[in-house]
Amino acid sequence: MFTQLRAEGPIHWHEHPDGNGFWSVVKHAEVSEINRDPERFSSEAKGVTIDDTEASEEGVDQRGVNMLYTDPPKHTRYRRLVSKGFTPRMIGLLEQYLTHRSILIVDNVIERGECDFVEDLAAELPLQAIAEIMGVPNEDRKLLFEWSNTMIGMDDPDYDGDPTTAMMSMYAYSNNLAKERAIDPQDDIITKLINAEIDGDRLTEFEIDIFMMLLGVAGNETTRTATSHGMLALFNHPEQMALLQSDMDKYLDTAIDEIVRWGTPVVYFRRTAMVDTEVSGVKIKKGDRIVMWYVSANRDEDVFDDPFKFDITREDNPHIAFGAGGAHFCLGANLARMELRLIFREILTRMPDIAQAGEAKMLRSNFIAGVKELPVKFTPGEKVNPPPFEKKPGEIINQ
Ligand code: HEM
Repeated sequence: MFTQLRAEGPIHWHEHPDGNGFWSVVKHAEVSEINRDPERFSSEAKGVTIDDTEASEEGVDQRGVNMLYTDPPKHTRYRRLVSKGFTPRMIGLLEQYLTHRSILIVDNVIERGECDFVEDLAAELPLQAIAEIMGVPNEDRKLLFEWSNTMIGMDDPDYDGDPTTAMMSMYAYSNNLAKERAIDPQDDIITKLINAEIDGDRLTEFEIDIFMMLLGVAGNETTRTATSHGMLALFNHPEQMALLQSDMDKYLDTAIDEIVRWGTPVVYFRRTAMVDTEVSGVKIKKGDRIVMWYVSANRDEDVFDDPFKFDITREDNPHIAFGAGGAHFCLGANLARMELRLIFREILTRMPDIAQAGEAKMLRSNFIAGVKELPVKFTPGEKVNPPPFEKKPGEIINQ
């Protein structure tokens, strides 16, 4: 369908059953133009998902508070507060810790000879990484995981949790953690947020809760999805799997970006036109909703050679799975790439004959291209049992 739209109607008005139609923008050039122009195309005015309205339907209006739902200059000030946790230097410092966690993740299943790839191998590292950056203690990390699943999986009948309850639980949790850190400051993002000032004001409790929720959700499901799509793509393209395993030092970096392009975990984001305007000759009215289909732009024939080929050697790969270079470009892109490198290296080295053992189950969602289950089998191996990693949460990112 997207191939047809790219050829015949790259900026196409889509009627919506509730009468609230939107523009579908499906080509790389126009998606990039819209993504990079927050003055004409706002994230704050009416939200960033197809269903968002002025007063978000979940009962919590995140506009102007959640960084994703905020336009510059406020967005720039918000972003500065948390970006320190994500610099290349900080990500480098986390690498040792996450390498250790990757060994443990494989240790947990290696003797069994079979497991569910998504839950047992793909989910854990993103969770540990973001919890470490945020300052969530080990014993609470599973909660973070469950809440973010419920929030993202709200359209899927297999997830029966209530997204509003999950969101409220996460707020309440962040609130408590913030109170603990106010008394006992640590070197983590939540302590930084408590002490941060914007325009002379401290962040409100609500702002802190929303920050924690955004970080918890944004870094979890997306990277897990990329890992699962990557494994599935390698199963479906055995010659690419063999090539990658033949020389990981040579192919891993380009393979990771190809995996992220191929899987495009975030299917779209939305904006709202702030003025009457035109994109590639198509007139767009002030107030119109515009959906940038990243998943389609990442298969754009005008940008990618042979876009439907999964090619781990693809050098020229300007995919926009992390956004198209605008103000909201994924804050965790470098972290995600590192996590993917670490986990694939560990899996493909210690489980060289890993193979699909059953049908993959996909998440029902038009927003996240999630994989829920991917049964795999492999020749059982031995645990490495690395010595414990002696660091407290938060210590690493502040060395
Ligand atoms: C493969 C994994 C990931 C994918 C595909 C992904 C994708 C995206 C996309 C598409 C955006 C919006 C960009 C835009 O529209 O311009 C975004 C924003 C964001 N991502 Fe990621 N992401 C991933 C991993 C992560 C990780 C590990 C974190 C860590 C916490 C993270 C944190 C964020 C945050 C905080 C934002 C909002 C930035 C802002 O509004 O300024 N992401 N991500």
